[in-house]
Amino acid sequence: MADTDRVLVLNGPNLDRLGTRQPEIYGTMSLADIERMLAEHHPDVALDVRQTNDEATLIGWMHEAVDERLPVILNPAAFTHYSYALRDAAALVTEAGLPLIEVHLSNPHARETFRHTSVISGVATGVIAGFGQHSYLLALDQVRRQG
Ligand code: DQA
Repeated sequence: MADTDRVLVLNGPNLDRLGTRQPEIYGTMSLADIERMLAEHHPDVALDVRQTNDEATLIGWMHEAVDERLPVILNPAAFTHYSYALRDAAALVTEAGLPLIEVHLSNPHARETFRHTSVISGVATGVIAGFGQHSYLLALDQVRRQG
């Protein structure tokens, strides 16, 4: 059983630039704005929202999720499309019986061909993509529902 009172919301490369990075694709909310929105909707959850541009750091956080039995909401960003190391870390999470929801602000399938492949989806609990900041909210709703 996961501890759904705490949720890790992990974000990969360039998501520290949300708000100004291609706003026509990713919207105008920063990651801090998204965190505030999540907290408003789920005030009873201890959210741990993190971002890194570093693959090894992201993998370390997934290991932490396994060790502390925490559900994970993961936007792997560009790592989605090629990081087998991150996929293996994601598999550790779901094989431990913990939910791992892959989220994307945009719908990668409606974009460039290289974005059509996710090496993460096959080991994720589920995938939510294309709803902007609400992709995160839908994922958090689902994590709380599963509890
Ligand atoms: C993204 C989609 C990825 O293809 C891209 O590399 C990102 C963001 C999204 O949230 O839509 O950085 O994961």
